[in-house]
Amino acid sequence: MSTSKPPLVICLGNVVADHVFRVEEVPQPPAKAQAKGYRLNVGGMAANAAIAVTRLGGRAAFWGRVGDDPNAGLLMDGLKDEGIDLTGMKQVTGARSPVSAVLVDRYGERAIMGYRGDGLGTDPSWLPLEMLDEAKAVLCDPRWPEGAHVLLEEAEKRDIPTVLDGERSETRLLLDLVPRVRYAIFSVSGLTNYGSGARAPEALRKAVSEGVTRMAAVTRGEKSTLWIMRGEEKIRETPVFRVEARDTTGAGDVFHGAFALAMAEGMEMEAAIRFSSAAGALRARDGATAHRKELEAFLQENAAIPRENAGT
Ligand SMILES: Nc1ncnc2c1ncn2[C@@H]1O[C@H](COP(=O)(O)OP(=O)(O)OP(=O)(O)O)[C@@H](O)[C@H]1O
Ligand SMILES: [Mg+2]
Repeated sequence: MSTSKPPLVICLGNVVADHVFRVEEVPQPPAKAQAKGYRLNVGGMAANAAIAVTRLGGRAAFWGRVGDDPNAGLLMDGLKDEGIDLTGMKQVTGARSPVSAVLVDRYGERAIMGYRGDGLGTDPSWLPLEMLDEAKAVLCDPRWPEGAHVLLEEAEKRDIPTVLDGERSETRLLLDLVPRVRYAIFSVSGLTNYGSGARAPEALRKAVSEGVTRMAAVTRGEKSTLWIMRGEEKIRETPVFRVEARDTTGAGDVFHGAFALAMAEGMEMEAAIRFSSAAGALRARDGATAHRKELEAFLQENAAIPRENAGT
């Protein structure tokens, strides 16, 4: 048995109680309808990424805030059950946790009503920064910029790889966060926000021209991932895996968690993107986050994806 512990990845940002109702169709008001099914999911970008890290064989810590409402307990239990370290998770007295109602119809189409929470505060001074002594990678989403600033600055000082989930946000927030991370990985809408509508190649080139950013990428669902390294002009393209997608919710979050773990493990860039794409594809296929063994088997089965399969 190896004596070395799995690498620790700190994921800072959002956690949301997703109350998911399966319905025939999303009703138009005024209406009262029966749901065919119900489940509570731990959602939120950084929280989903932390779950991906532990399932894929790393150790994860989630840093963020919840309220002291019933959803908070459900969220903390959900993360604890996955084996995630909650030293950096704060229950804020009198605050309310982020929550969403998700209605999924018979075609898998969804209507989401999200609530960002209330009274969670922005002060990051209580974060357990000493945990960085052990961390091998750090991931932030854009939902708690004050926390991200502190964590990213400390990580950079210690030469720890940093990853941003560049998800849909205000342009000014992304302009502020991107130069602070080594690896900025956007969703399509996040990159549009960051580049104020510029085309993807132009926006990616801008991202790697500033701050400490060494690589910028955009994930595009079932289309290939585009990425660029600092100092290079060429936009690279990595194909995605072909799966029959059942539920793509959280595929991006899982991609980011897998990527942060890959950086923590010292994986080389092309391999890291493949690894993360496989994690995203399995999530889209199964509607659940895969474990490492399953992912390794999937990668082996799909070892030879021809370059020409790269969708455009
Ligand atoms: N239908 C799919 N088939 C194969 N792979 C997929 C599919 N959807 C997602 N993936 C994988 O997951 C990655 C991330 O997905 P996507 O670009 O949709 O993230 P996103 O827009 O951030 O979505 P979200 O944040 O809601 O999860 C993709 O780059 C791809 O590798
Ligand atoms: Mg996303």
